[in-house]
Amino acid sequence: MKVNVHFSPLHSDELYFTAKTTVVIDVLRATTTVLAALHNGAKEVIPVNSVEFAMKVSVNSFGGQTLLGGERNTKKIEGFQLGNSPLEYSKEAVSGKSIILFTTNGSKAIVKAKFSETLLLCSFLNVKSVAAYLANLNKDIEILCAGKTGSFCIEDTICAGRLITELKNLKGEELELTDSSKASVILDNAYGNDLQKVLSECEHGKLLIENGFQEDVNYCAQVSVMDLLPSFNNGTVKPLKIP
Ligand code: MLT
Repeated sequence: MKVNVHFSPLHSDELYFTAKTTVVIDVLRATTTVLAALHNGAKEVIPVNSVEFAMKVSVNSFGGQTLLGGERNTKKIEGFQLGNSPLEYSKEAVSGKSIILFTTNGSKAIVKAKFSETLLLCSFLNVKSVAAYLANLNKDIEILCAGKTGSFCIEDTICAGRLITELKNLKGEELELTDSSKASVILDNAYGNDLQKVLSECEHGKLLIENGFQEDVNYCAQVSVMDLLPSFNNGTVKPLKIP
């Protein structure tokens, strides 16, 4: 069982992921926000890779039951009902709703991996559950970090390292790690013991705090507090039902 990490979506094209088992990670904040939405009863999240496409999808949806969510430069987009703060995605706001989500890096990374056979979303909130599911699936895994505008970001890589360590605990020597996987584990071992600090001091964490989102950063630093497995299928993300 081979595990490979992509530090950003820039160096692979859509077809690379065809028929693969892929996990997309955007700790700050997109995959954490999707988890919050599904946890609070959203019917589905529809990730899109442009604001224009978000508008197009929303025009064709039922008013009231569909919300536009997302951000540009961390802030809510004009005309959208929700930003990309997981704390906005409360039961009252999202229960029973379909959410069309556009974000700078995260939603685009999910769309990029759309040809995967299995495509799961992961953040620190559900890292243990994702590992348990993948260990049972027993297939090679591609971990796609959303990164920051085509570049490496430390928080997604540490989360990838955490996922690999959880997998290693379950699969032992069966797990074959690429160089990028080994580097992710080393980073998690070096810095992952104080996630609050890492997430507050990384580049994107600092920007979020400057823009008033300290509470989001704290929320995103919670580890394995949800059993949810958000799974992308036919254009929408829903919780995977495990028989
Ligand atoms: C992204 O997709 O780049 C992020 O989720 C940005 C953010 O809202 O913090």
